[in-house]
Amino acid sequence: MLIETLSVFPELFEPYMSTSIMGRARARGLFDFKSYDLRDWTHDRHRTVDDAPFGGGAGMLMKVEPLHDAITDISSRGDVRPCVVFFTPCGVPFTQHVAERLSSVERILFVCGRYEGMDERAYALADERLSIGDYVLTGGELPALVVSDAIIRLLPGALGNDMGSVDESFSTCEDGGLLEYAQYTRPADFNGNAVPEVLLSGDHSKVDAWRRASALERTCRWRPDLIESARLTNGERVLATELITRFHGSKAGEA
Ligand code: ADE
Repeated sequence: MLIETLSVFPELFEPYMSTSIMGRARARGLFDFKSYDLRDWTHDRHRTVDDAPFGGGAGMLMKVEPLHDAITDISSRGDVRPCVVFFTPCGVPFTQHVAERLSSVERILFVCGRYEGMDERAYALADERLSIGDYVLTGGELPALVVSDAIIRLLPGALGNDMGSVDESFSTCEDGGLLEYAQYTRPADFNGNAVPEVLLSGDHSKVDAWRRASALERTCRWRPDLIESARLTNGERVLATELITRFHGSKAGEA
């Protein structure tokens, strides 16, 4: 996999992409990474990438020409055309499902905006527009790192064992769309706060049942919105309705 970024702050990426799991996966050749400076595709003395919006209004917009020239030029390099992903709060919400889909793409170019947005005509070059959440950041660089991290850890071998990314919140395997269960490590008793007995019992079927109940309870408490589409048994669904009512009142339980 080749991940590339186009941005006016290309230097922001390298430290993250060469540290910890990202750095190890890269050193092992699981992915390659390149960042490009959008200003390299400007032709004026000031290397201008922004301009005022037609119709007035606050702030500046990214100009279409440098974006067009950069994306066309970068895309034409190499054998495979990249999947061109723009970051904007107006994009499709980024989810684990999207991460899984992108993790099998051979080449991805992340286009990171700054200022108040982009000239709308630049989006003609996008295969996808992604948002990492309903809040506004100052640029697309953090979204590019967030999405890169989520993709890279899914590459076979990136986590050192191929099971690590399966059994957790939002993975599409086994958990049925629930948050991850509570986990504990030593000490078994911390200031009188003891680890649930069953986890020390060595009885794997009891541990599995406890973890499922923990996942259900935590999801009802912290993310009741996930319950409707979670894969639950009839008994679990009845229990979930009771838990949601207990945690959030009767209105939330009915919703
Ligand atoms: N650019 C600014 N805010 C953003 C967000 N929430 N997601 C993606 N790109 C952005």
